[in-house]
Amino acid sequence: MKLLITGGAGFMGSNFIHYLLNNYPDYQIVNFDKLTYAGNLDNLSHVENNKNYQFIQGDIASQADLKKLKKHKFDALVNYAAETHVDRSILSPLEFSHTNALGTHELLEFTRRGQAKKMIQISTDEVFGETQTKEFFEDSPMRPNSPYSASKAAGDLMCAAYVRTFKTPVIVAHSCNFYGPYQYPEKFIALSVTNLIQGKKIPIYGSGSNVREWIYTQDHCRAIDLLLHQAETGRVFNIGTQERFTNLEIAEIILKKFNLDKSRLEFIQDRPGHDFRYAVNSDKLKKLGWQPQTKFMQGIEQTIKWYQEHQSWWRKLQDKNYQQYYQAQYKAKGLS
Ligand code: NAD
Ligand code: DAU
Repeated sequence: MKLLITGGAGFMGSNFIHYLLNNYPDYQIVNFDKLTYAGNLDNLSHVENNKNYQFIQGDIASQADLKKLKKHKFDALVNYAAETHVDRSILSPLEFSHTNALGTHELLEFTRRGQAKKMIQISTDEVFGETQTKEFFEDSPMRPNSPYSASKAAGDLMCAAYVRTFKTPVIVAHSCNFYGPYQYPEKFIALSVTNLIQGKKIPIYGSGSNVREWIYTQDHCRAIDLLLHQAETGRVFNIGTQERFTNLEIAEIILKKFNLDKSRLEFIQDRPGHDFRYAVNSDKLKKLGWQPQTKFMQGIEQTIKWYQEHQSWWRKLQDKNYQQYYQAQYKAKGLS
């Protein structure tokens, strides 16, 4: 099988490339990535000499860059390429439309032209908006609230339109929050762990009562493996674990693992428009035979250990105090 992984130099894309090369050593993999601040070829240093792996730099929203792939025909394309950080989407929203809406659209055209036999669109539970108590199903209405989630919803809606109008073979997966190795240390869990290792505090937005559902990297890779090999195209799947915690609960779990107390929490100004709670129903995927295997308490331990053992990987990425930076920018733009 020959696979195109877009955004393969990012957090989940690189985890999936490692997963594929370990589980399907005969597959040929092309990683197409623009290398934004979140793209990091260090994530793939172990596989860069693998004869079945190739890296091509390019922007999924650029037709000229996509032409670099013209001699290839792929059995499938898995699109991980995106602008992904909600705080950044509040400060620079247009970049999010460029990649998440237009870039996804270009990849649909790429698939429609027959350059990939099918496309898997990696999307998010955030497109459904927030819910106080319910779970979202695959056909729940999209009610995105941030420029990030609105741009992801735009990409997903175009996928639905291509399935219906052109019968383009696409599968869309709405996932809950990922955590694990290689996550850029601006995201909550990676930031909390790397801050504590450096003797800093965990920044908590607002009261810390917002709820997220968490999935370990390997469980998400196994879900995409199943969709790639067994799911019918034209379908939509949620990927979740039902392991839902408030941000304060997450911070307290991490503090406990470090034997630290609550004096290492810092409550700071809330994110503008901050969604209260996400929760997805994943029964449809479970019927295909998938179950999460890593409980949060085990996954967080493995994650902390990974960040402790890979300090040279993340220390060079932490060029600024993200929270001070975002807060100053929100203030400057009148968003606080
Ligand atoms: P990430 O931010 O770590 O990496 C994104 C990658 O995409 C980077 O390598 C970057 O260089 C690349 N990229 C960005 N713009 C590009 C462009 N125009 N052309 C080509 N490459 C480009 O991302 P992640 O957190 O691993 O998320 C991967 C996917 O999963 C995204 O689609 C995201 O929306 C989705 N998702 C993420 C989470 C999460 O918790 N992180 C949860 C659910 C869904
Ligand atoms: O739900 C899936 C989504 O999860 C993905 O689609 C996004 O790409 C991904 O970034 C993530 O979005 P979140 O906004 O949920 O993730 P983040 O790690 O930024 O924040 C998780 C929660 O923690 C959220 O409620 C905000 C809060 N938070 C975050 C940061 C960075 C804090 O309290 N303090 C922080 O410093």
